Amino acid sequence: MNKAVDPVAKLSGEIVPPPDKSISHRSAMFAALSSENSIIQNYSSAADPQSTLECLKQLGVEIHQEGSTVKISGVGRDGFQDPEKSLDCGNSGTTMRLLSGIVAGAGVECTMIGDESLSARTMKRIIDPLRKMGCKIDGKEGIYAPLEIHSHGGVKGMRYPLPIASAQLKSCVLLAGLFGDEPTEVVEDVLSRDHTERLLQLETEPYGSGKIIQSSRDHIIPQQNYRVPGDFSAAAFWLVAGSIHENAEIHLSGTGVNPSRDAVYHILEEMGASFKKTNNRLAGKEPVSDLFVESSDLKPIHLDPALIPNCIDELPILMVAMCFADGKSVITGAEELRHKETDRLSAMAEILNLAGTEVELQQDGIIIQGRRDFKPSAATFPTYHDHRMAMAAAVLATKGTDTSAITHADCTAISYPKFWTDLQTLSDSAA
Ligand code: S3P
Repeated sequence: MNKAVDPVAKLSGEIVPPPDKSISHRSAMFAALSSENSIIQNYSSAADPQSTLECLKQLGVEIHQEGSTVKISGVGRDGFQDPEKSLDCGNSGTTMRLLSGIVAGAGVECTMIGDESLSARTMKRIIDPLRKMGCKIDGKEGIYAPLEIHSHGGVKGMRYPLPIASAQLKSCVLLAGLFGDEPTEVVEDVLSRDHTERLLQLETEPYGSGKIIQSSRDHIIPQQNYRVPGDFSAAAFWLVAGSIHENAEIHLSGTGVNPSRDAVYHILEEMGASFKKTNNRLAGKEPVSDLFVESSDLKPIHLDPALIPNCIDELPILMVAMCFADGKSVITGAEELRHKETDRLSAMAEILNLAGTEVELQQDGIIIQGRRDFKPSAATFPTYHDHRMAMAAAVLATKGTDTSAITHADCTAISYPKFWTDLQTLSDSAA
C-alpha cells in the first residue's frame, strides 16, 4: 500500500505515543520467566511485540490479552515446553535475539524462524556467545535464521566483553546466563539501552566508562506487574516534526525517557530544538515524562559516535532533522544501521537524495548538507518495508513542495500501528 502524504502548513495537538516496543517484549518474556502471575498494562499492539506473545504461547506460557492488558502465568526458568511448531518471530530482531537466550539457555528443542528481512539479518553475534556458554544452537549457513536449538548439558557462566554495542546481544547473553550455575558477566564499554538489567534487577557495577552486569541461576526473577511507558523512539518522529515545522506545537504525553534511550532529545536540544519536559514520574522501574515541542531553528551537528547506541533507532529521523539545519551535519560510527530491518544508511541516503538533499554516504555514516529553508521535492519514497524508513520519509514529506507517496506504508504497524492516524490528528487540529 502506498500512502499519499501532503505538505502540512501546521502541526499541533496532543498525542499519546504507542507503548514502548523494547519494554513490551521484555515485560512479556520476564513475566514468563517468573514463577508467578503478572499483569502487563499498556502492552503494545504492534506486530513485533505480538510476535513475542505468540512465541511464548507456543512455549506453553498461558497468556490472556484484553486490549492492551496482558495477563501472563509465569512458568519459571524450567517450565518452558518444546513447541510443536517453529517459533515465528516475524520481523522482530528483538524477539529472535532475546528469546533465543531464554530457549537456548533452557535447552528447549525448537526452531526459530523470521520473515524475509529477519532471515537476512546476521545471528552470528548471538550464536557465537551462546555456543561458548554450552548452548546448542545453529543457523542457516551458521549465521542466519532459521535457528535450530537443542537441549544441552548445562549453561556455563562466562565473562563476556561485548564485541558490539548492542542491547539485543547483551540481553541474549544475560538471559542465557540466568540458566547457569556459575555467574555470567557481561562487560559493556559503550552503554546501550538498559531495560533488561533494570527490569530484571540484575546486579551491575561501574567499569571504566561502562559497566559489568551479572546473571546466574541464583538470581531471583522479580515477581512484578508492569506498566509499559510510551515509546520514546516513536515520539522522536514528532520531536523532529515539531522542530522542523515553522508552525508547530505538539504535546507527547506519557513518553518513556530512560536515559539510555533519550540521546536524541539532548542532541536535538544541542541543535537548537525547543522542548519542555514536565510531569516527570515512574512507570514501574522506567522514567516517564510529558514532552512538548515547538518550532525552532536548527543548527548542524557532528554527532559524537559514543552516543550512537543510545540513539540507534532515532538516527533515521535525526537525519531528517539534519536536512533542515543550516550547514553540514556528520554522523560516523553508525555501521550498525546497515544491519537493521533494512540497510538504513543506504535507504536513508536514497530517501534524502530523492528529496533533493545533498548527502555523502559513507561506510559507517553520512554527511548531510542542510538548509534552514529546505523544501523537499515531492517523490515516491521507498521504505524497503522498514517501519522507521516509512515514518522518517513521511515526516520529511510533510515539508514537501507537493504530495509525496510512501511505499509499503502499512509497515509502520511493526512498531507504531496508529502512526498515520496520529499524523492526521496533528495535521487536522492544525487546519
Ligand atoms: C533493541 C535494541 C536495538 C534496537 C532495536 C531494539 C532492544 O538493537 O535497534 O530496535 O530492544 O534491545 P541493537 O541492540 O541490535 O542495536
